[in-house]
Amino acid sequence: MKILVINGPNLNMLGIREPDIYGRTTYTDLCDLILEHALKTGVEVELYQSNHEGDLVDKIQAAYGNTDGIVINPGAYTHTSVAILDALKAVAIPAVEVHISDVDAREEFRQISYIRSYCEATISGRGVQGYLDAMDLLAEEK
Ligand code: DQA
Repeated sequence: MKILVINGPNLNMLGIREPDIYGRTTYTDLCDLILEHALKTGVEVELYQSNHEGDLVDKIQAAYGNTDGIVINPGAYTHTSVAILDALKAVAIPAVEVHISDVDAREEFRQISYIRSYCEATISGRGVQGYLDAMDLLAEEK
């Protein structure tokens, strides 16, 4: 089973950006945790991060035909991007939405997610553990 883990804008700043909200785990630490978890659970994983909406769309499209599941934290694009929703619908690969913070308990604009309607599940507020839980969810469904 192959899982693609996609992170959107500013998630490369993890550990530096607003640590009271997003914690002190860096993006590199997060990648290590995901790779370790993939090894332990026997799934193949690919990691991708971009600050650019079109690049995220390109990456989702490139997963067509070679990926069994997508874990995606689109960052701020969660709340604005019809293009990312459409890309997920286009490839029709099972996906789980992840947010490090509890978006439903924050500002009103963060409570809107364009991709939520497509995703099998939304995991938010579990910190970086949410990515590992999302991987397990996709692996269970396979
Ligand atoms: C986030 C929540 C978003 O509202 C925010 O724009 C992010 C990170 C999260 O992981 O909690 O960049 O997706």
